[in-house]
Amino acid sequence: MKGPLSFEYARIAVPDAVASRRWYEINVGLDTASTKEGHTYLRAGLKHHALDLVEDRSLPGAVVKAFGFSVESPEVLAEIKERVRKAGKPIGEIDAMQRHFCTPDGSFSTVDPTGMTLEFFIDYQVFDQPPHREENPLFVVHPFIATEKYDEVVAFYLGVLGFKASDYIANVSAFIRSEDRLHHSFAIKRAKTFEVAHICFMVKSFDHLMRARAQAIYRKVQISIDMSNHSASKSIAFYLLDPQHGPRIELCDGHRRLTPEEHATMTPRRMAIDPRNIDIWRAAEDDWHDL
Ligand SMILES: [Fe+2]
Repeated sequence: MKGPLSFEYARIAVPDAVASRRWYEINVGLDTASTKEGHTYLRAGLKHHALDLVEDRSLPGAVVKAFGFSVESPEVLAEIKERVRKAGKPIGEIDAMQRHFCTPDGSFSTVDPTGMTLEFFIDYQVFDQPPHREENPLFVVHPFIATEKYDEVVAFYLGVLGFKASDYIANVSAFIRSEDRLHHSFAIKRAKTFEVAHICFMVKSFDHLMRARAQAIYRKVQISIDMSNHSASKSIAFYLLDPQHGPRIELCDGHRRLTPEEHATMTPRRMAIDPRNIDIWRAAEDDWHDL
C-alpha cells in the first residue's frame, strides 16, 4: 500500500494577508510566487508554493484550513481515493485555484477525523530556479497536529491514506512518513484539544538556522521553543510564533531521509516518554518543554 508522495502546502486563513506575507518573507525567508484571486502563494525551494494564504478580515488570528499532498502517479492517487471512499469519508474537489498548480485529473479532497481538509493531486508544479532570497528554506517538511482523537487520526493516516510509521513516543505521538522517505511528513500528538502545533521548514544549513534565530531575536519575534535536537528525525530546530500569521513555524537544519531499503523494511521504534527522547539536549527526566 502506497501513501502520498510529499507534504506540499498548508492553506492558512489570516486576518491581514499583506502583513502575513511580509512576516513570512522576513522571518521564514519565504518568497512570493504569486498573488491571485485572493490567494497569496509563498514558496520554499522549487515547488510552486508551501503556504497558501487567504485573507479573512473577520478572524482574530490565523487558522489553518487545509493541507495539500502530492501523489506519485494516477494509479496511486486512485488507490488512495478508493480507500478514502471505502472508509466512508467524503470525497470533494480540491481548491479551485489549486487546480492550476497540478494536473487536476483524479484530484480530490477529503476531511480527516479532526475536520481538517486534505487535498491530493499528481504533478505538483515546480519552478526551474529556487528564489534568489538566500534565506529561502529548501522545502516545507511537515505539519504537526495535536488532537483529542489521536487513535482515530493515526489509524486514518496509516490505514487509509497509506502513510508509514517511522517512530512513536509511547502511545502519545506518532511520526509518520510518505513516499518521499523523509522521517516524518506528518506528525500527530495526543492532546485535550485540537491544534496545528507547528509547520516545519528545512533551511539550508546550521548557519542559516542560527542567522534566522538571530534575526528573530533582533526583531523581537517570539521564539516559542528555542534550540532543540530531535532524536526522531535527527534535526536541530527552533520555533517562531505569531498567532496573527499562523501556527508555530519550526525552522530546522537537517531531517533524516530514509533509504529506499529502510523505507521498505524499517520497524517503527516505540520510544519512552522522556524529554531527552524528544530533544536530546534536555538535561533530565523532568526537563520538559512543550514541542
Ligand atoms: Fe516538527
